[in-house]
Amino acid sequence: MQLQTRLALAFGAIASVTAVHNVTFTNNCDTELTPTWSSGSDLRKGVLLAVGATAQYVIPETYFGATFYAQDGSCTEPGGAGCTSFHCTLPATNPNNECYLKVADGFNVPLRFQLNNGCVARRTCWDETCKEVDRIACRAHQFGIELTFCPPDRT
Ligand SMILES: *[C@@H]1O[C@H](CO)[C@@H](O)[C@H](O)[C@H]1NC(C)=O
Repeated sequence: MQLQTRLALAFGAIASVTAVHNVTFTNNCDTELTPTWSSGSDLRKGVLLAVGATAQYVIPETYFGATFYAQDGSCTEPGGAGCTSFHCTLPATNPNNECYLKVADGFNVPLRFQLNNGCVARRTCWDETCKEVDRIACRAHQFGIELTFCPPDRT
């Protein structure tokens, strides 16, 4: 076997075990927002999302204590205090995941999450009195997350 072929196979094997979650952000609010997420002090930002825009990012399958929110200038970073937030435990011993919405630390925009690709669950927080904060267990590897800021319907 040629060296190049062996290298290609080796890289292929590495790529196949890189486990990730696809995270899709959609901005239905009437202002631009920056999708922001963090694990501890590891702070990441997507591009500024125009009104009606969608963007997809990947996060590691184990991104412990992941927090997601729409930065509109009012969220304290890295944890997003002051803003509506979505959390997933994403522990190193996957796939014992729990995901939930949180308004106890603040509310800025309505936020909906939808899990897919292995788990089916959807919750929406419309305002600071939100009760949809129960923890959703998801035992699937690499499940997907769809987050919508200002979802258009109340169903
Ligand atoms: C993430 O989405 C891309 C397409 O955007 C797809 O090719 C890939 O298989 C997805 N990964 C997972 C883990 O679902």
